[in-house]
Amino acid sequence: MKERLALLDEDASVFYNFEDVLLNASTNQDYSLIFSDNNYSIQIRTYEIQKIFQNKKYFERASDYYKKLVTAPRCSTGSKRLDNLLRGGIETSAITEFYGEYSSGKSQICMTLSVMCQRKKEEGGLEGGVIYIDTEGTFRPDRVSEIASFRGLDPRTVLDGIFYTRIADVESLEGAIESSLKLVEDQKIKLVVIDSLIAPFRAEFLGRESLQERQQRLNRVLYKLKTISEAYDLAVVVTNQVSSNPNPFVGERLRATGGNVMAHATTHRIFLYRQGQKRFAKIVDSPSMPQSETEFSVGPSGVE
Ligand SMILES: Nc1ncnc2c1ncn2[C@@H]1O[C@H](COP(=O)(O)OP(=O)(O)OP(=O)(O)O)[C@@H](O)[C@H]1O
Ligand SMILES: [Mg+2]
Repeated sequence: MKERLALLDEDASVFYNFEDVLLNASTNQDYSLIFSDNNYSIQIRTYEIQKIFQNKKYFERASDYYKKLVTAPRCSTGSKRLDNLLRGGIETSAITEFYGEYSSGKSQICMTLSVMCQRKKEEGGLEGGVIYIDTEGTFRPDRVSEIASFRGLDPRTVLDGIFYTRIADVESLEGAIESSLKLVEDQKIKLVVIDSLIAPFRAEFLGRESLQERQQRLNRVLYKLKTISEAYDLAVVVTNQVSSNPNPFVGERLRATGGNVMAHATTHRIFLYRQGQKRFAKIVDSPSMPQSETEFSVGPSGVE
């Protein structure tokens, strides 16, 4: 058996290195084996990657899983207060969602994370590259350069480590996520940012009659992102918009868009809001962190 096994999705764009994948996959009739260029490959659907991971070992002790979780690297947000709120920073193998009104700091957090992710582990980074999917045209390389300079990093090197794409519609977003898989492995990507995830869906699917398709496609995108984050131990950060709560007597005045699909698929949800000149971040939903909040600010070095 060759040491490099390729897992191909329909577009032949997924690659993975597990030697024993072949063993696991060949016992599963869902997969077909092909032989090409002296390499064994397994034809497989992208969304089945997770199944392979689960097949590798059905059960593990919760203590082992706990050890994995607490030792899993986290990416500093650049703000001590935000890091404390998030128990050390943005979790890898998970989707973290920031939602809030315009100017609440969503894009500033994304751009600061794109710098922080590239820092050394002892400095709060993940020592990895960044994929930045921009659906609103608000990514600013000059702002990223400023953040990098203020944090003592070479702006050029930092920009080199960010793989940027501007996306206008849902189909392109789906395509970008699909083709990011190869980049993830080749460029040691440790952070995938989508700012904003919901924007193309809201722009494209208008009205109630298209809601079902919108939610199905959003769900598929989120599932794929979750799979990638777990398969490659990377952090996925998405931003989301807000809409007014139709029933102001129950719950918050503003709520995240994307409905139940978004709420269920993201691991940690953080609401950003402003009160006068002050900015706040509030954990709204998380499997491991209590509802709590902190103040933060935005300055020349990004979020502080
Ligand atoms: N160089 C900078 N120094 C200090 N503050 C800045 C700097 N650049 C932007 N800001 C502040 O960041 C805020 C904008 O935040 P951001 O773009 O992250 O909002 P957002 O939540 O992404 O909004 P939207 O929903 O419109 O995309 C503004 O209040 C702006 O003053
Ligand atoms: Mg923004």
